[in-house]
Amino acid sequence: MPSTKEQLLERKQKRVSTMKGLILSGGKGSRLRPFTYTNAKQLVPIANKPVLFYAIEQLVECGIRDIAIVVGETADQIREAVGDGSAFGARVDYIEQDAPLGIAHAVKIARDYMGETPFVLYLGDNFLLGGVKPFVDRFRENGANCHILVHPVSNPQAFGIAEFVDGRVARIVEKPASPPSNLAVIGIYMFDHHVFEAVERISPSGRGELEITDTIQYLIDKGLNVQAEVLDRYWIDTGKMDDILEANRMVLQSLTPNNEGQVDERTRVYDPVILRKGARVVNSVLRGPLVIGEDTEVVDSFVGPFTSIDHNCRLKGVRVGGSIILEHTTIEETHWPIEHSLIGRYVTLRGGHAVGGSYSLTLGDHSQIEMPGA
Ligand code: DAU
Repeated sequence: MPSTKEQLLERKQKRVSTMKGLILSGGKGSRLRPFTYTNAKQLVPIANKPVLFYAIEQLVECGIRDIAIVVGETADQIREAVGDGSAFGARVDYIEQDAPLGIAHAVKIARDYMGETPFVLYLGDNFLLGGVKPFVDRFRENGANCHILVHPVSNPQAFGIAEFVDGRVARIVEKPASPPSNLAVIGIYMFDHHVFEAVERISPSGRGELEITDTIQYLIDKGLNVQAEVLDRYWIDTGKMDDILEANRMVLQSLTPNNEGQVDERTRVYDPVILRKGARVVNSVLRGPLVIGEDTEVVDSFVGPFTSIDHNCRLKGVRVGGSIILEHTTIEETHWPIEHSLIGRYVTLRGGHAVGGSYSLTLGDHSQIEMPGA
C-alpha cells in the first residue's frame, strides 16, 4: 500500500477522534408484505424496539455521534421515529434517496456528509446481538481502508459472499448462483474515504443496482487494505418474517426480568417476563421470555414464550406464543392458539372455531378478522 508511516499515523489519530455513521433505511420491504405496505421494514420491533434503534444505539456505543440515515419511500415514518437523534445521544441527519438504486448508490449520495471522515455503514435491517464496538475499535487501530465482517450462512445464494485466498479476502460476489464459500458479508462495513472513488467507478449490476460487493471488490482490485473478520456473535438480516421472530427470540432471552405493571393473584408468572408501566394482567399465565408493553391489558390468556406485545394492546381469552404483536391491537376470544405470527398495529382479531393445531399469521396494520364461533 502506498501510504507513508506518517500518513498511517495521521489516519489512525483521525479515526480515534472522529468517525461517522451511515444507516440505510430506504429500499422496499417486499419480503415482509403485507406488513410493509404500511410500515418501514427497519421499524419492525424486536422485543418492542424498532430494529433500526439497535443500530443507532450500537453506533453511539462506539462513540459515534454524527449519524446520517438514508431514507426513501418511508422517510416520514423514519423521521418521526428517530427525530434529531437527541433521544439516542446522537445528531441524526437524513439523506433522501429518490429510488433504491443500490447500497453503493446510498453511499455515493452520502459523500458530502462524510467528507474525509471514516465511517461505519450499517444496513438498517441488519441486527447484531451485542453491538459493533470491538469491530469498530479494530478498524480504528488497524489502518485498513475497509473492514468487513463475515458470518457462515446456510443459504449463501441470498447474500454477498466472500472468498478467501491465503487468509485474505480475494473476491466478493453478490448473491452468487454457485457460491465460492458460505461466508456472508454482513450488513455492517467500515470504510475510509477511498470508498467514494469506488462507488463512482463501478457500474450497475444485472438487477440495476450499484452493489456494495462490487465496491469492495474495486478496493481489493486496487490493492487497498481490505480486512475481513469472522463474526463471533449472533447476527441476522431481518428481511423475512422467520428471521424477525428468530431475532425476537434471541433478544428476549438476553433481557433481565422487570415488572413495572400489575399482575393479579390468579396470574402465574414464569420468568423472564418484562412488564412495562401500566401493563395489567388478570387471571392469565405468562411464560417468559416475553415482554408486554405500556398500558397493555391481558385477561384470561396464556402468553409466551418468546412473545413481544407492544403498548396499548388488549388480549382477552387467547393463547399467543412465539409472536410479535404491535401496538393498539385487540385479540379476543380466539378459540385457537396464535403461534409464529407478526401482527401489525390497530388489528382486531376475534372468534373462530376450535379446530386443533394453531394459526400462523402475518397481518398488516388495521386488519380486521371476525370469525363466528362454533
Ligand atoms: O444483510 C447482508 C446483505 O445485505 C449483504 O450480504 C449483501 O451483500 C447486501 O447487498 C445486502 O443484501 P440485501 O438483499 O439484504 O439488501 P437489501 O436490498 O435488503 O437492502 C439492505 C438495506 O439497505 C435495507 O435496510 C434497505 C436499504 N437500502 C437498500 C437499497 C438497495 C437503501 O437504503 N437503499 C437502497 O438503494
